This record gives sequence, C-alpha cells and structure tokens, in this order.
Amino acid sequence: MPPASGSPFYITTPIYYVNDRPHIGHVYTTTVADVVARFHRMRGADVFFLTGVDEHAAKVVDAAAQRGLTPQQWADQNAAEFRDTFVRLGITNNDFVRTTSARHKTLVEQYISALLTTGDVYAGQYEGWYDTGQEEYVPDSKAEEYGLVSPINGKPLVRKAERNYFFRLSAYREPLLRLLERDDAAADGGFSVEPAARRNEIIARIREMDDVPISRSGQNDWGIPFPGDDTQTVYVWIDALFNYLTYADSDDRRRYWQSGATHLIAKDILWFHAAIWPALLLALRNCAGYEWVALPERVYAHSFWISDGQKMSKSLGNFVDLEKLDRYVQTFGLDALRWFLATKGPLGTNDSDFSDAKFTETYNTDLANALGNCSSRVAKMTSSYFGGVLPAPQPGSGQDSEHAHAVGAAVADYLARVDRLDLGGAADAALTLVRGIDGYIERTAPFKLAKDPANLPEVGTILYNCAETLRVVSVLLWPFMPTKIEQLWQRLGCGDYARALTDGRGVEFDLWTAWGGLRPGTPIVSGDPLFPRHQTKS
Ligand code: MSP
Repeated sequence: MPPASGSPFYITTPIYYVNDRPHIGHVYTTTVADVVARFHRMRGADVFFLTGVDEHAAKVVDAAAQRGLTPQQWADQNAAEFRDTFVRLGITNNDFVRTTSARHKTLVEQYISALLTTGDVYAGQYEGWYDTGQEEYVPDSKAEEYGLVSPINGKPLVRKAERNYFFRLSAYREPLLRLLERDDAAADGGFSVEPAARRNEIIARIREMDDVPISRSGQNDWGIPFPGDDTQTVYVWIDALFNYLTYADSDDRRRYWQSGATHLIAKDILWFHAAIWPALLLALRNCAGYEWVALPERVYAHSFWISDGQKMSKSLGNFVDLEKLDRYVQTFGLDALRWFLATKGPLGTNDSDFSDAKFTETYNTDLANALGNCSSRVAKMTSSYFGGVLPAPQPGSGQDSEHAHAVGAAVADYLARVDRLDLGGAADAALTLVRGIDGYIERTAPFKLAKDPANLPEVGTILYNCAETLRVVSVLLWPFMPTKIEQLWQRLGCGDYARALTDGRGVEFDLWTAWGGLRPGTPIVSGDPLFPRHQTKS
C-alpha cells in the first residue's frame, strides 16, 4: 500500500563493496530504488532513500595491497567513485553509507554488546568452508553440492578453522517461519519476501538453518573491533547488514525505520537479508533499550543482468562496466539509460539480457517513436492551427469523459504496478495512453479537419484531449526520466510541478493525475525532439 501523504517511507539498496569501481549491478539496483523513491516523493511521502558502500571486506585489503595502498586509501578512492557516479546518474539518495564512519562503527559495537548480554551471541569454534569472493560461510552440505567451488564466482572454496563468535540463528527459525509462512506477511509487523518464488526458496532454507559465525579472526587492522575481544573483528556481512539500522537509528530518523523498510537487493544475497537480518533484528528487540526495533516490511530480490545471453564476466569481455554505461549516457542521454534499466531490467525472477540491439530498440520504440513523436505532433499541430496556444475543448463533445476514463484506468493500473515493483508494467500503462493518443489522432485526423476553418472547434477538442492526456502521462513518467519530463512540463506550461517536487511542498499527485489540469489558453511550446531517433550503423 502506498503511504499516506507525509508518512515516512524508507528504501535501501545493498551497500556495495569498494574493492572495485561501480558496474551495472550497482547502478541497476540504485536506479530502480531511485525510481521508487521519486515515485513516493511524488505521492507526497516523507522519503528516506539510502545507498552507500560496504568497506570492511577482505577483498578490499587484497585489492589495496596490490596497488601499494592502505585499505582505507583504496576504500576512500572507490567510495568517492561510487558517490560521484550516483550523483552523475541523477540518484537522489538522502544519505550515503560508509561502514568506516564513526556513526556506523559505534552503533554496531553497541548492538553486538547488547546481543552478547542476552546470549544470542556466544563464543565458539568454526570449522568449515568459506567463499572468499562472496565473503560467505558455506555449510558442509552445500559445499559438497557445489563441488567445493563457489557457484557465484567460480573460485575454489577455502577451508577455515577459527575461533569466533556465533549468532544463535537457530533460536529464530520458528519465529521467522511463522512470519514468512503467512500470506499477509507484511501485516502486524511481519515482513514479506518477494517475488513469491524467492519467499518459497528462503522458507526451505530457513527450515535447515543453524547458528552462524559473526566474527572473524586474523583481520584485525580492517574491520569493526569485536566488543570485549581484541582478537576478533565483526564479520563483514553482519557489519554491513546493520547499516540499514545505524543510518536510521537517531532521533531525527527513527521514524523511517519504524515505518517498515523496503530493502531492494539481488537474488544472490537473499539469505543474508531474508533470514539473518530479520533474525538479528528479532534478537536485538529482545535486548534492553531496543524494544522499539521493527522488522523491515519488504525484502525484494531481483534477478541478474546477463550480457548477450551469457553471465557477465570480465574474462569473457562482456561485462557492462561504468565506461560502457557512460557511453550509453553520452549517446542516448541519462534518462534513456534510466528508462532501459528500470523497464527492461530483471526485477522479476528471470534474468534480463543487456545488449546494444535491445537498448537501441527500446529507445527508438518507447522514447523516440512513442513519447517523443507524440509530444512533437501535438505541439506542432497546436502551433499550426492555434498559434501555439492550447485551445479549449468544445463543451458537451462527450470525448473528454471518454479520455478522462481511459486516463483514470491507466493511473490506477500504474499505481498498482509500481506497488508490486513491476516498473516495466507501470511504464507500459503510461505508454499505452501515448499509443492511445496516436490512435486517436489517426482516427480523427485533425490535420485533415483543420483544412476547413469550420472544423476548428472540433480540432481544438482533439488537441486539448491529446495534450491533457500527455500531461498526465508525463506525471506518471517523471520518476523514470526526471530531466526529460521536466523539459516536457516546461513545454506544456506545467513547470511549477518541478518546483513543487524540488522543495517537497505542494506535491499534489491526485490533482496532477486528475483530468482537466491543463488550462486552455496556455502556451504550448514545440521544440527540438525530446528523444531524437537513433540510427544504427549498418
Ligand atoms: N556488500 C554486499 C552487500 C551488502 S548489503 C548489506 C555485496 N556487494 S556487491 O557490490 O558485491 O553487490 C551488490 C549487489 O549488486 C548484489 O546484490 C549483487 O547481486 C548485485 N549485482 C552484481 N552483479 C549483478 C548483475 N549482473 N545484475 C544485477 N545485479 C547484480 O554483495
């Protein structure tokens, strides 16, 4: 359900390892979260959108050493790169996590100390397998099933025998199952794992879950010191998961945590987010002073981008890295990249293929031919037949109620789809209106009617209906393509929408999507094509 106006809404992305530069996996989840954050701001919610970096991984130490740098120097460099990239990509996060920040480290130490007090964290001995690429402990049964090789990165698993601290995950097996096996999972402070197939997958794994190590020995110069034991540091995954809470655990932000977070992640890190994380929170809630700690409302795991039909990998040379993404931005514009990622990406349970051909086709079909062409057509006809001033619809033509009805149905469809995180479907609900305008123009042929001045009132009605439908479409598409849509708003005489959204006051989604917002007499500006058609070199 969308939050009521002014109510808090909290959305997060995973925090990204700083061993390397950003790539499509990072840009994708963050762009999707940005579209959702902007959508909720447009609906008047009090949004807190968090992304950032995960710094204490062992692979950061290795990558830094290869370059003769300290882990902190290398982390600083890459954290800056992530931050700059997100700024360049128009991402509107409200804060940026660094797990080396004092805020984060202090609170993580406090949480672990509290968990030591209740006995949910205890000293033990780990002997088993470890996936260094994923920074993940792998149970013996799984390790055998994988042939002692990581299913994610193909590297051999490493045998570990170390003394460390464990989290009593097994004590939360039943409470978690009870929460997850409900169909109305998000009700009454529970949480949902989506899509449904992912929920089933995690339920099966929770049934078998055991206690897990949550500290590491032998990495003492890089990590959060384990409270009360200077031979240990906090295991990087526990450190990382806590970011969602440490950045919301202050008087001015606790309302966001309490409102039930939406964690957007990818399928490979589902276990940490849908099992370990809620169990840690349930355990923390049992500690004195932490009774207020709520569970997230929703953990949504998307699938993977693949490239030309294959898993992306640097060695195959099919990796979509930052340089490649930047080239798309230079050629097609930032909004085209956002559109492609958000509408054609792997939000559901299937992986999505990233290819030049698919990108160009999407751009030309959706943006150049549909939205761009339709808005130029409407502006040009207004200019030719009405001197660039929006005509008034004829009273009682009956057409407006028909259009108002189509628009109302599309808005409802769009809202339901964004709520389900079906961003491709939501965008399509808006584009269906654009295709409807094109069909209406073909059917009514205002360009023929206008040849006889006696028909101008009828032409005026048609153009009003087209421009007004386009205005509502533009509102629906703003979260996806803020820059282009703000240009379109200028042309349609709705520049004040952008101002309302920037200062956060005066956002009136229901009014903006209700029929009849455009005032006859408003100047309609034609301009350069919003999305020039892209010719492929052949
Ligand atoms: N640091 C951890 C997350 C901690 S969250 C408390 C981590 N970082 S990561 O940098 O390796 O990856 C971040 C996310 O990007 C992961 O969810 C990962 O699955 C995702 N992606 C990496 N490659 C991807 C694709 N090819 N496609 C889509 N997302 C993918 O894991």
